Amino acid sequence: MLRVLKMVILISVCSSAVVGKEPADTNYDEAKVPAYELPDPLIDNAGQSVGREEWMPHRRGQVLRMFEESVYGKTPPQELSVRYEVMETDPNALDGRATRKQVAAFLGEEAYRIDILMYLPNASERPVAGFVGLNFNGNHTVHSDPDILDRGQGKERGSSASRWQVEAVIDRGYALATVHRDQIDPDNYRNDFTDGIHPLFYREGQTKPEPTEWGAIGAWAWGLSRVLDHLEKEPRVDAKRIAVLGHSRLGKAALWAGAQDTRFAMVISNDSGCGGAALYRRCFGERIHHMIKPVGYWFCTNHHQYQHREDALPVDQHMLMALVAPRPLYVASATNDRWADPKGEYLAAKHASPVYELLGRPALKQADPPPPGQPIHTTIGYHLREGDHNITEYDWDQYLRFADQHLSR
Ligand code: GCU
Repeated sequence: MLRVLKMVILISVCSSAVVGKEPADTNYDEAKVPAYELPDPLIDNAGQSVGREEWMPHRRGQVLRMFEESVYGKTPPQELSVRYEVMETDPNALDGRATRKQVAAFLGEEAYRIDILMYLPNASERPVAGFVGLNFNGNHTVHSDPDILDRGQGKERGSSASRWQVEAVIDRGYALATVHRDQIDPDNYRNDFTDGIHPLFYREGQTKPEPTEWGAIGAWAWGLSRVLDHLEKEPRVDAKRIAVLGHSRLGKAALWAGAQDTRFAMVISNDSGCGGAALYRRCFGERIHHMIKPVGYWFCTNHHQYQHREDALPVDQHMLMALVAPRPLYVASATNDRWADPKGEYLAAKHASPVYELLGRPALKQADPPPPGQPIHTTIGYHLREGDHNITEYDWDQYLRFADQHLSR
C-alpha cells in the first residue's frame, strides 16, 4: 500500500517538474510565501502616477521594454519575408462541418517551413472569430483526421485531441489554427538557437541571441503573430476577433504574444504557471532557478540573473497581463497544478485589474481565487478547475463562453 502511494506521489511529481524530479526546495506552504511588494504598473519609471490618457502612449511601452529586457528578450525588429502557400484544402472535413486548410509558411530564403493547420466552420456565412495556439506534438495530434499532414514528429495521430476539442470549437462557430511549437523553435532541452528560427535573424557573425534578445518563448510568440498575419488574408476569418491561447509553456508564449501584438483580440493562459501567469514574487511552486538549468533558453539570458532574486525584477507577471488591457484576458488554473501556483495565477490577474479599471473595463474584484468550478467572467476571466495540469473540455467550455461574450457579433 505504502509502495503504491509512493509511486502515485512520484508519478504526479514527475509530471510537474521540467526534468522529472521535483526540486527539494519547492515551497507549497502558503505560510512560507515571503512578504513581497509588487511593482505598481500605474507608477511610471520616473515615479509619476499614470492617468488614463497616459497608459497607452507612455506607460505601456515602458512596461513592454522591461519585459523584453528582463524576461523574454527583444524580438528582432527586422522584417523577414514570409510566403504563405495553401498546400491542401478539404471543404468537407469533419463530416462536412468544417473546411480544413493546411498552409505552409516559407520563411526568409524559403528553406525554412512552418505548417499551419486550420479548421473553418462551414455553417457560418460571415467571417468568423477564432482561436490560435501552438501545439506540443505536431498538427496531426490535435485531431484523428487522417488527412492532417504528419511532418514526422513521431507522435500518434489524434493523441492530443482532448486538448483541442476541435468539434466543439467548430460547432460553436469558431475557426481554429495551430502550429507545432518545434517547427518554430525546437523545445529540446539542449536548445542552442541553431535549429529554430533564430539564425534567420542573426546579424553578420552572430551565433546566438544577445543577453536581451529573444529565447524560445519569444520565437514561439513571433510564430503566433505570423499565423495571425495569414488569418488576416483568409476571407472566412475575421482577424480582428482572434484569441491567442496556450497551455503551460505555450500559455507563457500566448501571453507574451498577446502582450506584444495588440491585434490579438483576446488572450488565454491555461495553466501557464511560472514565467507565465503566476506571480514570481510569491516563490510558490516553480521558481526561476528551477527553470533556468533545464529550460533557460525559453527566456533571454538576462533573465537568468533573477534566480533567487525575484524581488529584483523590475516587473512581475501582473504587468504582463496589464499589457493585454483593455482586451479580454482569461487565466485558468487547476487544483492539482500546485507547481504552477494557481493562487499566484489568480493574483497576477487580480493585480492587473487596476489597469483594466483605469481603461474603463470591469475586472477582478475579489481578493482570493474563486472555489473550483466557479468561473468568474468579466473583462478578465478566471477559473480554477478540479484536476491536473492539462487543458480539458471543461477549460475549452469556459473559453468558448468567454469568446461568445467578447468576440461574437
Ligand atoms: C514544466 C515546466 C513548466 C511548464 C510545463 C509545461 O512543468 O516546469 O514551467 O509550464 O513544463 O510546459 O508543460
